[in-house]
Amino acid sequence: MRDVELIIEEARKLVEPDPETADKARKAEKIIKERLDKLLKDYPELEYRFLGSYARNTWLPENLEIDVFILFPESYSFDGLEKLAIELGKKAVDMYELRYAAHPYVHGTVGDVEVDIVPCYRLSSAERIKSAVDRTPFHHEWVIKRVKGLENDVRLLKRFLKSINVYGAEYRIKGFSGYLCELLVIHYRSFLSTIEKAARWKRNLVIDPGRGSEYVKKDIEKLHVVDPVDPKRNVAANLSIDSLAKFVEASRIFLREPSIDFFIPKTFSVNEERMKKEIHGRFVYGVIFERPPVVEDNLYTQLEKAERRIADLLENNEFTVLRSGHHADEKCCLVFELLSGSLSKVRKHYGPNFESYANSMKFIEKNREYSRFFENGRYVTFRTRKITDARELIRHAITVHHASMGKDLSEFIRKGRVIEGQELLEHKDLRPFLSEFLGVNR
Ligand code: UTP
Ligand code: MN
Ligand code: MN
Ligand code: MN
Repeated sequence: MRDVELIIEEARKLVEPDPETADKARKAEKIIKERLDKLLKDYPELEYRFLGSYARNTWLPENLEIDVFILFPESYSFDGLEKLAIELGKKAVDMYELRYAAHPYVHGTVGDVEVDIVPCYRLSSAERIKSAVDRTPFHHEWVIKRVKGLENDVRLLKRFLKSINVYGAEYRIKGFSGYLCELLVIHYRSFLSTIEKAARWKRNLVIDPGRGSEYVKKDIEKLHVVDPVDPKRNVAANLSIDSLAKFVEASRIFLREPSIDFFIPKTFSVNEERMKKEIHGRFVYGVIFERPPVVEDNLYTQLEKAERRIADLLENNEFTVLRSGHHADEKCCLVFELLSGSLSKVRKHYGPNFESYANSMKFIEKNREYSRFFENGRYVTFRTRKITDARELIRHAITVHHASMGKDLSEFIRKGRVIEGQELLEHKDLRPFLSEFLGVNR
């Protein structure tokens, strides 16, 4: 066997659920079934199904979570479906909380197994769907017929993607969903050939697992994976170019030097001395504020928006932004690295070309702090810059322009603090993020 095959065989043992975990899952499944059978007696028009990675046996042992869908006939209104599904879901689990995707749904536990109970409509074809979850029964039918024998290959791919932090279609990750992993492994027939093909992917590739074909398309800027149950839809719609690039890079490195490390969650250590030194010679600023109580996807969309807004303000005021980023755990932080933290007290102000008679006369008649000069025949003068310090400009941005920084975020940002350099390092939670941000995480 080739090296790479040996490593993959070894990794299979790491991704396959051990007998105890599998047994625990089956027990929870049985309990949920008993409860739902009883609960649905009063609702003969409803049925439940086990869908998602648990039902397809493609779940990772460290992420055991049973997805149960309650299928409603189309005669139910959105509100009716929502209310009844939550009522039934609550009773099917031991403890629960409400979570929000297309509809609110019940996330709970049975014993210590996590369970999602999600409502959807039962439809005759996937083209008639009302919300994204309604496709799930169709996804399940398509995958379950084809994934036999490839389950552990799907698990390998999921774990490989997790180790480089690109597993999950949520906004925080912008990576590969579980369904996308299943489609790729079915399309390429194994984990290894998925990696071998991915090593040569281009951003404008179209993969059509339903037809078993793929081709490059000139005018698309992102990987497109045609949903076999709804060909209008791109299964990779939430995948960012950078997450795609990370996967392609990791595939190449893995093929060059196969290692079991690609199947083990990374715990990278932060070199604090190096970070301290680095940050001393660079211009790094943070806006730190309380985390608003909104669902994760909304939080991250708005963090991105606020980050963009402040970076634009900095650029408009002639600061050069080298990199910006955001991080959230208990607190939120927006981070900006600049080429320099302070600017000249003057900025250039341009006037007309000398040929323009009237405008030139207007320009020279104005009373100015600084005398004028020509630059290639165009009038120029200096003006005093109001804010020369980046920290002050960022403070101005959050106190005056916060309103355009996300509706749930703006008030929290307004009350935030602007910190700089070493002060960032005082926030322990930020260190791993900063270490990556500064490029010193090796
Ligand atoms: P999951 O997020 O639980 O994914 O959604 P998964 O395929 O089971 O993978 P892991 O192993 O838990 O990470 C379960 C199913 O629900 C649908 C998807 O089709 C998926 O197969 N789904 C989920 C949606 O359609 N929309 C959502 O927002 C979430
Ligand atoms: Mn799942
Ligand atoms: Mn999940
Ligand atoms: Mn789920």
